Amino acid sequence: MSTTPLAAATKLKKVTTRAFRQKKLKGEPITMLTAYDYGTALAVDQAGIDSILVGDSLGMVVLGYDNTLPVTMEDMIHHSKAVARGAKRAFLVGDMPFMSYQISIEESIRNAGRFLQEAGMDAVKLEGGRERQETIRRIADAGIPVMGHLGLTPQSVNQFGGFFPQGMASMSAKRLYEDALILQEAGCFSIVLESVPSRLAEVISRNLEIPTIGIGAGTGCDGQVLVVHDMLGLFERFTPKFVKRYAELFTAMKEAITAYKEEVENHSFPAPQNMVEMSDEEWEILQNDLGL
Ligand code: KIV
Repeated sequence: MSTTPLAAATKLKKVTTRAFRQKKLKGEPITMLTAYDYGTALAVDQAGIDSILVGDSLGMVVLGYDNTLPVTMEDMIHHSKAVARGAKRAFLVGDMPFMSYQISIEESIRNAGRFLQEAGMDAVKLEGGRERQETIRRIADAGIPVMGHLGLTPQSVNQFGGFFPQGMASMSAKRLYEDALILQEAGCFSIVLESVPSRLAEVISRNLEIPTIGIGAGTGCDGQVLVVHDMLGLFERFTPKFVKRYAELFTAMKEAITAYKEEVENHSFPAPQNMVEMSDEEWEILQNDLGL
């Protein structure tokens, strides 16, 4: 009996934090992509990607903001719920938005809890190093898996003065290395390393027991993540150097929309196969009734 891709995907074992650890131990790369809606989550899940991040990057690639700062908890919960309805196998990580974990530890735990309780996520991610140590510890103590995020942390874009690589000088690299150890000790099950030198990412990955997931951090990481709109060529505003485009969907979308517009305008759409029609018998009765 043949199985549909959906049936095959739903039969597969759910990915857990244990699988993250085991993959690192076996030297098997962890695959991760972002998703923000039901349809994309279905595709990413059915392709067998290990983990889906509902990233606050949705602020830029879905909502059209210049950066991730305006994204709210309500935005994140709304999109996370849609992703959870589509993905049945992948490990789901909800990104804590700006100001959802900076104000107080109590508020951070409450917001982290919402991702699991309301939105169907399996874990949360938050940005920052040693300054987040206690917050991470307390969220993890509440039984919520936490993914750290070091390097180019986009919520600090104003502090960095733009989207620039981090850890390029020996002093900042050393601090980043120390932060990774601190996040591990605080209870993170994994850490995203974004836009940091490959050599530094490799040494951090080698010296951590928990897996690192790189984005613009080279091949020495234990896994890779990309923003799905970037790798599908759906986000046209800019493409970071570390992105590889696997498709050109924005171009494909525009071509399809233009073809639709032309066919409507020249009356070739809808064609007979795109219409519904009543039987001649019923049509005749109607004509008589209406006196047509
Ligand atoms: O928001 C996001 O998509 C992210 C990834 C770039 C790691 O944080």
